[in-house]
Amino acid sequence: MNYYIGIDLGTSAMKSILTDARGTIVRQATATYDVIYPQNGWTEQNPSDWIVALNNVLAELLCVGKNCNKCDINDCLSAKSDTLSIVKCVKGISFGGQMHGLVALDKHGEVIRPCILWNDGRTEKQTAYLNEVVGKQTLSELTGNIAFAGFTAPKLLWLKENEPDNFARIDKIMLPKDYLAYYLSGVVATDYSDASGTLLLDVKNKCWSQKMANVCGISLQNLPELHESYDVIGTIKHDIAARFGMSDVKVVIGAGDNAAAAIGTGTVNDGDCNVSLGTSGTIFVCQNKFSVDRNNALHSFAHANGKWHLMGCILSAASCRKWWLEDILETCDYATDEQQISNVDSGNVIFLPYLSGERSPHNDVNAKGAFVGLTATTTRAQISRAVLEGVAFAIRDCYEVAKANGLQITHTNLCGGGARSATWQQIFADVLGIPVHILATEQGPSYGAAILAMVGCSVYRDVAEATEQMVSVKQTILPNPQNVAKYQKKYETFTKLYPLLKTLSI
Ligand code: XUL
Repeated sequence: MNYYIGIDLGTSAMKSILTDARGTIVRQATATYDVIYPQNGWTEQNPSDWIVALNNVLAELLCVGKNCNKCDINDCLSAKSDTLSIVKCVKGISFGGQMHGLVALDKHGEVIRPCILWNDGRTEKQTAYLNEVVGKQTLSELTGNIAFAGFTAPKLLWLKENEPDNFARIDKIMLPKDYLAYYLSGVVATDYSDASGTLLLDVKNKCWSQKMANVCGISLQNLPELHESYDVIGTIKHDIAARFGMSDVKVVIGAGDNAAAAIGTGTVNDGDCNVSLGTSGTIFVCQNKFSVDRNNALHSFAHANGKWHLMGCILSAASCRKWWLEDILETCDYATDEQQISNVDSGNVIFLPYLSGERSPHNDVNAKGAFVGLTATTTRAQISRAVLEGVAFAIRDCYEVAKANGLQITHTNLCGGGARSATWQQIFADVLGIPVHILATEQGPSYGAAILAMVGCSVYRDVAEATEQMVSVKQTILPNPQNVAKYQKKYETFTKLYPLLKTLSI
């Protein structure tokens, strides 16, 4: 039996899995790293921290330096499930990664400065320049998208203006997961799904836009070679492979984390929908043909299966619950919280989840979070529940835009850390008013990455065949008609709050 590694380069942690060729997960490993906040609203990470995490998860997955008794792999090439037999059977590795981050390398292949992340809000001025001076229509014609603060192109403009010496040193730019692929293989490459979020890709025609490169003051030579997400770009370098006892492991470029999660949840057919509840929250709708949201509130990006998708992204999702429980209430006891909120009615309490500004659909780095509707009898459980509802309402905002574009969404998959909450699953079914599917395998992006590795290694003919064989629905959560009506009213109030609060310029 051969094995495949899927890596999810998340914002707070790297999650990794080792699967066999049937998609059974035999091992998992996670490593965390910090987000750096140099100023309010700015977020950065050191790519070197990702490399430390990558080496740690590989060591744990492959039992290097660990007691291999933990292994439950019995049918490897050698009869014994020892370290050597497992490692020798690893054939491919691939990635899903946080999108839009600017990783800049100099001509020696050294990282120039920390990566500016997808939820960084420093580029308000550059984003306004792109949308208002270059113009939304031109951007949309060139790339299928308009500028949002987290996208890569405004970050390049920011660097040019604020750190000209660093900008002048740029030889190559790439996305976060591409840096992992580069570290392992030495090849500077990216895939269409992740490249879509740079605002430098002509998404429809799947090529870099010379005009956008000109706008950002870079040349096409500074950009990585483009691939489909399931393409093999090289093999793991000998010295790295040898450290783990591996040989001839193919590096498959992989996808942005949302496209990878869509593959991992089997969201691959026209109109299929996936909601992901990680640090960010996204709603992802597959499109067999390229199309653009008429107001560009949703992103028009390439999918990891060779096609396209529309996507809305809210900047704070499961991170809202983490903030509320861990930072404010100073508890990590999610289980008790879950018990307390499962049957409570949040009454009039409404939460606006704009803790890091907001991307879709408001495109406002200055949007702020809020609790409204509190009274002297409001309980902690009601507020906790309102936090989950507020995130679901913000996703509903994006869902409404998708529906206004004529998309018929009959049900959605749900994945990401937040999807483990049974209460949140039901809230989503009730707020969106459609059935929610929970998958048998919950590791969305890393599972998608492992599937892409398998397709790259020709275990399956294509992504469709692979997902058909490996992805299955574990549970369907149906909307409760009474709750749907209750949430409809509450959602109508929710939609009035952001415009009102915006007038206060808090
Ligand atoms: C998508 C986006 C986020 C990050 C999170 O456009 O910015 O979902 O990819 O990792």
